[in-house]
Amino acid sequence: MGFFMSQADFSPALSLQVTDAREIARGIHLFELRHPQGDDLPEFTPGSHLEVLTPAGLVRKYSLCNSALERDRYQIAVKREPDSRGGSASMAEQLKAGDMLPVSLPDNAFELSPKARHHLLIAGGIGITPILAMARWLKETDEGKFKLIYCSRDAESTAFLEELQSDEWQGLVTIHHDGGNPDEAFDLWPLLENPKGGHVYCCGPRGMLEAIRDMTGHWTGGSVHFESFGAETRDTSQNTPFTVQLAKSGMTLEVPADRSILEVVREHGVQVSSSCESGTCGSCRTGLLAGEAEHRDMVLFPEEHDSQIMVCVSRARSDELTLDL
Ligand code: FES
Repeated sequence: MGFFMSQADFSPALSLQVTDAREIARGIHLFELRHPQGDDLPEFTPGSHLEVLTPAGLVRKYSLCNSALERDRYQIAVKREPDSRGGSASMAEQLKAGDMLPVSLPDNAFELSPKARHHLLIAGGIGITPILAMARWLKETDEGKFKLIYCSRDAESTAFLEELQSDEWQGLVTIHHDGGNPDEAFDLWPLLENPKGGHVYCCGPRGMLEAIRDMTGHWTGGSVHFESFGAETRDTSQNTPFTVQLAKSGMTLEVPADRSILEVVREHGVQVSSSCESGTCGSCRTGLLAGEAEHRDMVLFPEEHDSQIMVCVSRARSDELTLDL
């Protein structure tokens, strides 16, 4: 999983050495990172990501996919997006073993819930990266029952295929290839029909997340967790500019088609929490006082749409929104 963040917000905490760099599936590159002096690395929890300053000078977030019990290395897997603005392409084409890579400390906007009676982990494509760290943790620590569903186009595009087909994962993983045909998508409904006190975690393309959201309306609040990817290549060509009125600070700001509300208000010194910046974690929830929003997040329930907005991704249907900022 990889997605875009603002370069201005980035301050690397570590410079790590690339100790392995190789293509592990079609267009997917695995990087192993270690401390240059062999020191232990800061701990992380399953579902965590790193912010990375890519060779192209763009900041990207990539999920850690190795075991969170390991202290001597981090592993990230990067999909080279065909229409990348340079972030994933520069990782795939330029980053080699021996290079140094500036990264942040690990952060987690996609955590396993300790309250779950069982965990249903669903990955689509490169969305396997945080999901695999979760599955490794649950398997190694025995901290909860789990099942992993891993959907991809075909065997050649499936990262970690050999490992996940090995005996040690038998009975824990279902791998499904749809050949790129939506009619051949894995039928998740039998697994989602009865929640039974479980939590579901999904990382994959937007369409997959939306399908799961539609199938989990009867799950209790907080038991369905999403992480999306693909924001690096988000299409802004259909966006239109609009105005935001900030009720508390009294400012009126223009949001251009290629910027988010979050980016614009921050530029003007207004503090808003954020983590995923892809509409899945809920941390940038902001009060909507007037105007009609175009909600693009995976967090809000329909009954919240008139009064709340996720400012990292959502936009306006009306010319103007008034926010409780
Ligand atoms: S920062 Fe995660 S939903 Fe906006």
